[in-house]
Amino acid sequence: MGNRTLCLLKPDCIESGLIGAVIQHLENDGFKIYSAKMVYMTREVAEEFYSVHKGESFFVDLVNFMVSGRSFAMVLERENAVEKLREVIGATDPKEAKEGTIRFKYAENKQNNIIHASDKEENAEREIRLFFSNKELIENGM
Ligand code: CMP
Repeated sequence: MGNRTLCLLKPDCIESGLIGAVIQHLENDGFKIYSAKMVYMTREVAEEFYSVHKGESFFVDLVNFMVSGRSFAMVLERENAVEKLREVIGATDPKEAKEGTIRFKYAENKQNNIIHASDKEENAEREIRLFFSNKELIENGM
């Protein structure tokens, strides 16, 4: 068993019918889904989720985008999960993303970029807790 990270398939991914394709890509790269569910972010949760970007010029548009539809939240597990997921999804701007990465293949622009991944270990734990309860993270049993 490796460590865990939070992955969110954003509203543009759901709208474009790309949940399956993106999950296939992640599974091919060795990620296991530990827990998963559809979520609808309220404005309050979206603002909290992206609180590090508060004050940035793109913040309001970003929050509006994130509340425009549902997202698919996943706790993913793998060795070096945090670092590896960042690598596999590619740069924030799909124009700068390496060939073969998820954003290179599917993302439209810097904002509508299909997928989110925690950027470091401590944020992964904070972000997982924002969406998943203890019960949903339990090792065995219901
Ligand atoms: P994500 O990996 O979810 O983390 C922060 C998000 O803010 C990022 O993906 C983009 O969706 C968005 N973002 C970051 N920089 C910009 C930018 N310059 N313009 C628009 N959106 C941005």
